[in-house]
Amino acid sequence: MKVIVAKDYEDGAKKAADFIDKLVRENPTCTLGLATGSSPVGMYKELARRCKEEGLDFSKVHSVNLDEYVGLEPTHPQSYRYFMDDNLFNHINIDKANTYVAKGVGDVEANLKEFNDILDKTDIDLQVLGVGPDGHLGFNEPGATLYEKAHKETLEDSTIDANTRFFANRDEVPRYAVTMGMGSIMKAKTLLMIINGNKQEAARKLLLEDKIDPMCPATFMRLHRDAIVVIEKSLADEIGYKES
Ligand code: GLP
Repeated sequence: MKVIVAKDYEDGAKKAADFIDKLVRENPTCTLGLATGSSPVGMYKELARRCKEEGLDFSKVHSVNLDEYVGLEPTHPQSYRYFMDDNLFNHINIDKANTYVAKGVGDVEANLKEFNDILDKTDIDLQVLGVGPDGHLGFNEPGATLYEKAHKETLEDSTIDANTRFFANRDEVPRYAVTMGMGSIMKAKTLLMIINGNKQEAARKLLLEDKIDPMCPATFMRLHRDAIVVIEKSLADEIGYKES
């Protein structure tokens, strides 16, 4: 696992953007796996700037997103489709027809079938990842067993608590989500994780321990051949991580 300690959030955003920049320039028809949350927002902003000012061309890029809340229309400001449009797609020259965010409304089983069919025929070149405070990836919550394929998850209380900040109150946070499974994530050629903020527990388990722990899905990064972790210095210092 390659670990990059960034000076601060902005520096991390640029360092993470460099990987996508390089990939898109080398392979303009690549497929990106994308993530929501506050961790990648700065990187998306930087990619939008490079698209406008430095000719970074997304016109032939495809994307598929990690997850979506169950019960939110794509027009809901907290849906992940809305998030992606608002934070990235509306600011770059990607063809929205080439972007996929799983449906959160309608027949969940049919939505999952569509999601899995798409994942089965997609080779993700680079998957962006954030981490939940409980170590979740996408919405793969900690548990004795994890799932390979896209599936429906019941959100943990800690996840609902963490995501309440985006809603008017806790009751409005959806209780369920659809998410890529751990298998779909691990099949991506490259994993790019951005970790900062209050992720001490997950960061410690990921960077300082040797265990692959289903109670902290982020630790599965350690099994991947090409995994990159961009961590903010303040968090690295807090957990006592030293660059080797
Ligand atoms: C949500 C998303 C995750 C994301 C996590 C962390 O739960 N489903 O994919 O990694 O939030 O978000 P943040 O980056 O805002 O801390």
